[in-house]
Amino acid sequence: MAKIKLNGKEVEVDGKDKLLKICLEKNAFVPHYCWHPGLQPAGNCRMCLVKVSTSKKLEVSCMYPVTEGMEVVTEGPEVDAGRKAVLEYLLINHPLDCPICDKAGECDLQDYTYTYRKGLSRFEEDKNIRPTKDLGPNIRIWGNRCIVCTRCVRFCEEVAGTAELCVVNRGDRSVVDVFPGIPIDNPLSLNVVDICPVGALIDKNFMYSARVWFTSKQETVCASCSRGCNAEATVHENEIKRLVPRPNADVNQYWMCDEGRLNIGYVSSPRRLLKGAGSAREIGEAGKAYKFAVVASTYATVEELWLVKKLADALKAVKVGFLTLTRGEKQVFPGGFRIEADKTPNRAYAEKLFGAEAVAAGWRPAADAVLKGEADALLILNGIPDVPPAPELVDAARKAAFVAVSDILKNPIGEFAHVVLPAAAWAEKDGTFMNVDGRLQRIRKAVEPPVTARPESEWIQEALVALGERKGAVSPEGVFREAFPDLDYGKVGALGVKVNGQPH
Ligand code: FES
Repeated sequence: MAKIKLNGKEVEVDGKDKLLKICLEKNAFVPHYCWHPGLQPAGNCRMCLVKVSTSKKLEVSCMYPVTEGMEVVTEGPEVDAGRKAVLEYLLINHPLDCPICDKAGECDLQDYTYTYRKGLSRFEEDKNIRPTKDLGPNIRIWGNRCIVCTRCVRFCEEVAGTAELCVVNRGDRSVVDVFPGIPIDNPLSLNVVDICPVGALIDKNFMYSARVWFTSKQETVCASCSRGCNAEATVHENEIKRLVPRPNADVNQYWMCDEGRLNIGYVSSPRRLLKGAGSAREIGEAGKAYKFAVVASTYATVEELWLVKKLADALKAVKVGFLTLTRGEKQVFPGGFRIEADKTPNRAYAEKLFGAEAVAAGWRPAADAVLKGEADALLILNGIPDVPPAPELVDAARKAAFVAVSDILKNPIGEFAHVVLPAAAWAEKDGTFMNVDGRLQRIRKAVEPPVTARPESEWIQEALVALGERKGAVSPEGVFREAFPDLDYGKVGALGVKVNGQPH
């Protein structure tokens, strides 16, 4: 530890940290472009100038070491003049693209220009023209906007380990590019768009789809694998326009994978299951006449799985099977980021509640129970998006005397089931998922579900009421309290909480 004076106040800091990190941690504003907490510092942009007692000139704080007793000043006329001069250089070749640039509204260059604006440019020469072109299937570069901070280049080297990006040319012609014939197409590629501090790198999937000041944001968790990357949904007119990562050092650092962030189309898809049949109460009534087998899904929330267990117990289900989805191998990247092979968000909780063996056995035990005549009714809850039920499961459902199905997308079983319950997708409900490390994390409703769809926790509680097992339905928070009496949503917070031992 070291003691320094920051803007006249004595503070104790980690002597191994560089000044910019310390200033930001101590809430002393220092503008910066090239420094990023998840990357090695590079000292490229020169925007992070501060005054230090150990030097006669202004210093770039992202590279400057701490020494005992030093005095640091992050504000005042001298520092401002230095930053203004740097910004004037950065803007020399930057086009006035803000009205048509996707980054407008969340652009550091725009924000700092507003803070340190000179008002007029003294540059009278022609601006340099640098290429606008695709760098990969998801990314397009506007070379004119690039300030060559190299965050994207360092990300591909340090975190993705793929190194597709490089800086070509010298001086004011420098620009980020790919090697000829090798596009940027790694599983983490879109993170470079998030960390681009200007509008040079653009996500082609989000491009021109919404102005960010017309959007709302909702904290959530990605549902596309069991890692559970912390995410933020950008919403416009009740549609999720994009999913971007939220930092969580214990789960995803600052990143998320392309597959997870792009797997949002099904939420507003025309393939949504909208037409219901019967009601959840009929499941409760059927429980008195039929022997049930139940198929649940590891896509369901903690609260839904808790209620599935209650319903299966109340129905005296002869078997509970599971819809799961595993694809490929777990991927671990050089920066430590992981993509799990389990492509559903809540397998860990299903395993804790029903046992790992039962989950690993999949849906077959439930289908077999119907085929062997041990059960004559089948209840299938919450399929995994874009994974239609296996033909054998559909065959088993056809043989059952009573079939009830709840799903997000249209489902072949829904065409003949007695009860069809359109379900809300992960972005349309509140709840929690338990990730692969046993960490409980909250998802929050970002968009309204279609009018006919409801969260499965409501359907299941309606069936439990019909069975006389509940007096009425409670919110996901209420169900969570039943499953984890020692925790509440407040404790789960924005970053989740690791649960030790077995759930109750
Ligand atoms: Fe320090 Fe760019 S943030 S030089």
